[in-house]
Amino acid sequence: MKSSARLLIFLVFLVFIFSSQTRFDLNKRKTRIDAKVDSLLSLMTLEEKIGQMNQYNGFWDVTGPVPQSGASEKKYEHLKKGWVGSMLNVRGAEEVRKVQEIAVKESRLGIPLLIGFDVIHGYKTLSPIPLAEAASWDLEAIKRSAENAALEASAAGINWTFAPMVDISRDARWGRVMEGAGEDPFLGAQIARARVQGFQGNDLSEKHTIAACAKHLAGYGFAEGGRDYNTVDIGNSTLYNIVFPPFKAAQEAGVRTFMNAFNELNGVPATGSEWLQRDILKKKWGFTGFIVSDWGSIAEMINHGRASNGKEAAAIALQAGSDMDMESYLYVEHLTTLVKEGKVEASLIDDAARRILKVKYELGLFEDPYRYCDKKREDSIIGNDQIREMVLDMAKKSIVLLKNDKNLLPLKKQGLHIGVIGALANDKDSPLGSWRIAAEDSSAISVLEALKDYRASNTITYAKGADLYTNKTSFTNQVKINQNDKSGFSEALKVAKSSDVVIMVLGEVGYQSGEARSRTRLGLPGVQQQLLEAVFQVNSNIILILNNGRPLAITWADKHIPSIVEAWQLGSQSGNAIAEVLYGDYNPSGKLPVSFPRSVGQVPVYYNYKNTGRPSEPAPDVVFWSHYIDEENTPLYPFGYGLSYTEFTYENLQLQVKKSKIEDPLIEASVKVVNTGEYDGKEVVQLYIRDRHASITRPVKELKGFELVSLKKGESQTISFQLDSNTLGFYDNNYEFVVEPGIFDLFIGGSSDTTLATSFEITQ
Ligand code: BGC
Repeated sequence: MKSSARLLIFLVFLVFIFSSQTRFDLNKRKTRIDAKVDSLLSLMTLEEKIGQMNQYNGFWDVTGPVPQSGASEKKYEHLKKGWVGSMLNVRGAEEVRKVQEIAVKESRLGIPLLIGFDVIHGYKTLSPIPLAEAASWDLEAIKRSAENAALEASAAGINWTFAPMVDISRDARWGRVMEGAGEDPFLGAQIARARVQGFQGNDLSEKHTIAACAKHLAGYGFAEGGRDYNTVDIGNSTLYNIVFPPFKAAQEAGVRTFMNAFNELNGVPATGSEWLQRDILKKKWGFTGFIVSDWGSIAEMINHGRASNGKEAAAIALQAGSDMDMESYLYVEHLTTLVKEGKVEASLIDDAARRILKVKYELGLFEDPYRYCDKKREDSIIGNDQIREMVLDMAKKSIVLLKNDKNLLPLKKQGLHIGVIGALANDKDSPLGSWRIAAEDSSAISVLEALKDYRASNTITYAKGADLYTNKTSFTNQVKINQNDKSGFSEALKVAKSSDVVIMVLGEVGYQSGEARSRTRLGLPGVQQQLLEAVFQVNSNIILILNNGRPLAITWADKHIPSIVEAWQLGSQSGNAIAEVLYGDYNPSGKLPVSFPRSVGQVPVYYNYKNTGRPSEPAPDVVFWSHYIDEENTPLYPFGYGLSYTEFTYENLQLQVKKSKIEDPLIEASVKVVNTGEYDGKEVVQLYIRDRHASITRPVKELKGFELVSLKKGESQTISFQLDSNTLGFYDNNYEFVVEPGIFDLFIGGSSDTTLATSFEITQ
């Protein structure tokens, strides 16, 4: 045997020994933790166990309705008594140490606290909003982004993030689409897994990893009319096939916590749903971590009309499986009495406290409660070069090129007079988006700054055109949009006239999407549409950069503006990322994770719709088919869509076999992707299927595979995919996962509207 072969065998052997040793160590650690939790529980009073189930907000960042008065003193007192298991919104190594010290040094058993925080897209150095990151379809990059967020947050004392939000949403009116991975369960599940792995790493007790939280169980993204917190009434088929997959993926990836939801689901508030929390999550999926309520959602069951008072709400939530009460104050207030009165079983309290303590042990908090409270570490990590580079890299990968008709892009590096127009071009705050409580206001690099600093020698002239908003925006303020001031228009037109090319940065204010930011109109807010049309009259060489937290209906712009770049809210390095794309130093490769409507009236519009009995085929002169009389059915830009400066063609779609047996189906498809354009680039190759006839109707297309490939100019690559029972099956109406025999269509391409297709059969 050659020595290289021997070396290879030896290496494989080492990897095997090492990985089985690691597994062995982890199992040993798990058993040790269970024993420790049991022995700690045996020392605890009922009140102390209930205390573990109580989570209080800190004293400055409020991310929900302001707590009741007098709450602060009570919080201190409860901390000392050991009646608090977790705090949220306490941050900074020293601040966390102070709170941790109260719990550890002043309470009877000295149990350390979980310190929770909404690390949604970075802690202080911000990555793009989660929806934008999803547009990268780059699972490695998304995982790294979560890793970096965990690194920064853990350095600031935080050991638990309320992320990822894995709610699927098809409704651009809902402000929280910005927080998720878009409309598709397959992509959503992959991204959920990547984010959980990124936050939690392989070992939760490492200093740079934190516990993750998959939220909001469940259906929150289906609020009626897209109005936040509104009623959700969807069938179980949609729940199982569309809503659950990312939650299930998060569970399979080992997420340590889940958060329930504000909404009711089919008549039952999610927080009080035993079916969701106990039957599905804990029993069926085998979840061993704990569930935290959403902010005040236990008390909100009174408003829902499910509980008549706080005491009843506490009993319902506990029975349903909500282990920790975020800011309702009801567990700590009522559970002891409820147990004493025999109205709730003490074993439920034991179970909840056990789950919470276990996560604390897993985080290593009992070994060292201050492991995340090292000021020196905080100073060296927060905002360091590595983190800044990572968020820049993620920002570039998140950009989607929507249109480039006249090849205005990429820009030449010299000899151009560039007009830059729009308040957002010079806005250092909006690119931070929502959910950035620890970031400094106005700390993003703006487009204008980045263009001025760029290694290019064009002239840049800026005109605002109009203010977009007129008040100081914040997480708790409603933003006031400028609805009619056009005093800056003439200056903008002057700049446009004397420019070779005009870059207009338009869209939403950072806080116009996010929680409680639902909209009924999806056009450009304020006077921006008028500004765009006015500029177009004097210079049509416009590159429109969109900054937004949700899909916008930009039908006019699509028709008239030659180049459109979807730049979302890209975080701290926003301007730099956009400039690199504009100058072609980064060739855009993002694809939409969500469909963009032509008009708000089409919403919900999504690619994996059902065919109906009267399908949406345009049929001239025929009236009775499923359509609108004033708009097309198709979206403006479909899910999976996005251009590049180069071109990709798809050839030679092949199946290894055309038939496969139902017991163990396996279909292998391959396609040749060729970079036929003028630049090196990346393409997201997407595979969709359609199960033509089944016991329940199936969508016209379902994403079942994708791969991000890099191809140099002129290069080609054959990409293969495998479909098996996991990807061919679905949940039927008995909620069993089934694969059914029959014909399937298979599509491959660079967008969900691809027509390159073949078909195969699954046989009995
Ligand atoms: C949101 C959660 C968030 C919590 C804590 C709630 O209003 O719905 O997603 O984690 O506040 O900030």
